[in-house]
Amino acid sequence: MSQLRIEPVDDATLTAWRHVHNVIIPTDPLSLDDVRDRVGRNHLTVAYRDDVLVGCATVRPPAGEHATATVIVRVLAEHRRNGYGTAYFTSELARARALGAGTVETIVLASNEDGVRFAGAHGFAEVSRYLPPGDDDPFITLRLRPGGC
Ligand SMILES: CC(C)(COP(=O)(O)OP(=O)(O)OC[C@H]1O[C@@H](n2cnc3c(N)ncnc32)[C@H](O)[C@@H]1OP(=O)(O)O)[C@@H](O)C(=O)NCCC(=O)NCCS
Repeated sequence: MSQLRIEPVDDATLTAWRHVHNVIIPTDPLSLDDVRDRVGRNHLTVAYRDDVLVGCATVRPPAGEHATATVIVRVLAEHRRNGYGTAYFTSELARARALGAGTVETIVLASNEDGVRFAGAHGFAEVSRYLPPGDDDPFITLRLRPGGC
């Protein structure tokens, strides 16, 4: 597997991050202003193999009593099953830990079967579901078990 190049989102990569997000989460399409807003709150990155866009990720910094961080990695369907998701997730989990995360959660759209399986295989267990009004595809929140991943 070629090495992934992981870059923080800036003006040059905003569109790439948005593209990956909106392809993988079509039920929650984001505008460029939405993404700019998230850049101010979260650590957003994009991942490339050579110069080819492979995926994007979100790390929400630790918050609350348990210093809970959220780590979400997304790999475009045509690049899956090459180990990129695992490599990217390992990198972003380390970022969350370095920011002081005590508890780590992830969020997967229920219809993303690859994502649900990936999260289970990496030590996450479901804690809750959220169904946006008028939607039929819930977001599942999963929490990393102690000793997981
Ligand atoms: C979850 C997700 C990031 C995984 O990305 P990925 O690049 O396919 O992840 P990996 O390649 O590391 O692992 C996926 C599978 O490929 C397998 N694999 C890894 N390298 C492989 C290779 N070289 N050849 C064949 N299979 C391989 C892994 O063993 C794993 O198998 P499993 O599903 O049977 O356990 C991707 O499916 C995705 O973006 N899903 C939608 C978004 C989402 O739900 N994200 C939340 C998760 S944080």
